Amino acid sequence: MKPRYYVTTPIYYVNDRPHLGHAYTTIVADALKRFHEIMGYETYFLTGTDEHGDKILQAAQEKGVSPQQFVDGIAALFEEIWPELDISNDDFIRTTQERHIKVVHEILNRVNDAGDIYFGKYGGYYCYGCERFYTEKELVDGLCPDHLEPPTFIEEENYFFAMSKYQDWLIDHIKTHPGFIRPERYRNEVLSFLKEPLEDLCISRPKSRLNWGITLPFDERYVTYVWFDALINYVSALGYPEGNLYKRFWPAAHLLIAKDILKPHAIFWPIMLKSAGIPLYQHLNVHGYWKIGQSKMSKSVGNVVEALAMKDVYGLDALRYFLLREMVFGLDSNFSEEALVARINADLANDLGNLCQRSLTMVRKFNQGLIPEASRLRKEGGEMRAAGLKVIEEYTRAFEEMAFHKALVAAWSFINRANKFIDQQAPWALAKEPSQKGKLEEVLYEILAALGLVAGMIYPIMPAMAARMRHQVGLPHDLLTFDPVKIEQALKPKAPVRQGEALFPRVELGGALAGKKAKTKTKAKTAEKKEADEMGVISFEEFKKLDLRVAQVTAAETIPNSKKLLKLTVNLGREKTIVAGIAEDFAPEDLVGQQVLVVANLAPTKLMGIVSEGMLLAAEDGEGLVLVNFSRPVEPGSKVS
Ligand code: MSP
Repeated sequence: MKPRYYVTTPIYYVNDRPHLGHAYTTIVADALKRFHEIMGYETYFLTGTDEHGDKILQAAQEKGVSPQQFVDGIAALFEEIWPELDISNDDFIRTTQERHIKVVHEILNRVNDAGDIYFGKYGGYYCYGCERFYTEKELVDGLCPDHLEPPTFIEEENYFFAMSKYQDWLIDHIKTHPGFIRPERYRNEVLSFLKEPLEDLCISRPKSRLNWGITLPFDERYVTYVWFDALINYVSALGYPEGNLYKRFWPAAHLLIAKDILKPHAIFWPIMLKSAGIPLYQHLNVHGYWKIGQSKMSKSVGNVVEALAMKDVYGLDALRYFLLREMVFGLDSNFSEEALVARINADLANDLGNLCQRSLTMVRKFNQGLIPEASRLRKEGGEMRAAGLKVIEEYTRAFEEMAFHKALVAAWSFINRANKFIDQQAPWALAKEPSQKGKLEEVLYEILAALGLVAGMIYPIMPAMAARMRHQVGLPHDLLTFDPVKIEQALKPKAPVRQGEALFPRVELGGALAGKKAKTKTKAKTAEKKEADEMGVISFEEFKKLDLRVAQVTAAETIPNSKKLLKLTVNLGREKTIVAGIAEDFAPEDLVGQQVLVVANLAPTKLMGIVSEGMLLAAEDGEGLVLVNFSRPVEPGSKVS
């Protein structure tokens, strides 16, 4: 039976759009899943969204929509962004789903039956931003330590979870299971917190104050505290208690979080599990913050970086590589575009890209672009195989310890070793001596096998680039292995290599390609053209490329989960579908029959799963959007110029 590996991310709040902080945790989880797959594990990867609580309700109220409408919209943004970041999650759980609510009820009943829930009066300092009560001691100068804002004093009758009763048991569990919370600094932080008496947890909110949540199964007047609800996602998604996935994967659970949510995961959740009679998770893996300047990047601080934006400028794989190479897991890191560009140029373009490019050029020039035979080496292995076996040991050890930067340093030591091997063996010199043909083939063969191993090592972090590398080297596209011998076996003698575009061209800040070609192009631009570009002026030729048409709206409808977009069917001589961002200003029924101006030759694009074949033009002023009209009815499809 294969060993199993279950990896989770926090379920993200849906009060704002996904950003780079969320993307980091999710990319780490993805890399862990892919790594374990290669290591022969059966894997399961869960992410999702946390949709109840004050914060969400407030955000929905600010937007003037129902909480359900609001959460549907943002959850869709999370769900849609992950495939764009090559995230291979197996499930996406939402806490508003029936399957989750059912399990929250089940666990609340179990904890209640265990005698661990009581009713009482409570007065405390509540931070709406954190959605939790603070003890006086936890406040810093009377302010919430995270938001630096004064909490609100609230007094009410509520249900409490008797956590204090489990304090000694938890301390003992953490002490006897050294890897339960890691890295060590967070384990120590939790143990030091547990030196003070643990307070019981208020796990209900009266519906009179907050009605957006899961109703307590034993008291209709209350909803469940959002953290008690959210933590349960890790088992509800697996179909606890009877689900097959739960039975298979829960014993192999690895939770991944940042340090902001250490306490609920390291204290509340283990005690909840214990009280409900559920075995504990294996490991809680805690990382630090990505910061810009000196502040944590998050919506509350206001300097959010959209993961997607960086990916669009520099490429997804480069971004994934940077995030895993730059951050020491557990510590904070600074995000800067300069550092990203420096890594792309040094590690990806120079070291890795160059190794691939020169290797394949040599196979093309000196061996007709074919994988060489090298039968002696196939059996015995050469010095690169020996180096590969050694480096793989270091790489896998580092990965298992969550030291991704170290794993990548190991992989890059092998890339540099391969580059040196080429310099030392000088295939270009061997190629000049017919007597050295056998030796030349051996050297080329070793280099190709080394590239195959590099493709394996970069796969968890840069899956798309790894696939391109395997393709170029002539390896099967589904070859996922860290075993140098298996890679050698997969190199079929006389099969062609497929040298293609450079894997990583050098880039400049802002994303323009650096290097000769780009420079020549710049030079070739006339001064006039350059000036026009800078001023945003276009030539008549460029304007003529636009195909502007009169279109008649024949049908219009809203798009589920989208507040801004409408799906229009228009007639411009023939029917086209256009997805337009005008839902906040126009009702679908007002549009049918209207004549509008559209760009008819825009490349089609998919919006909310619908292919849009053009763009509707509208003006915008302080009062909203205004459609462009015509002085009399026009034949649909007439050209506008
Ligand atoms: N909904 C809770 C989690 C419930 S889990 C049962 C929550 N959501 S959150 O949207 O605020 O996400 C917090 C998590 O997002 C962090 O723990 C981390 O995984 C990720 N990050 C958010 N900002 C981050 C940084 N600036 N840097 C690194 N990770 C960050 O808390």
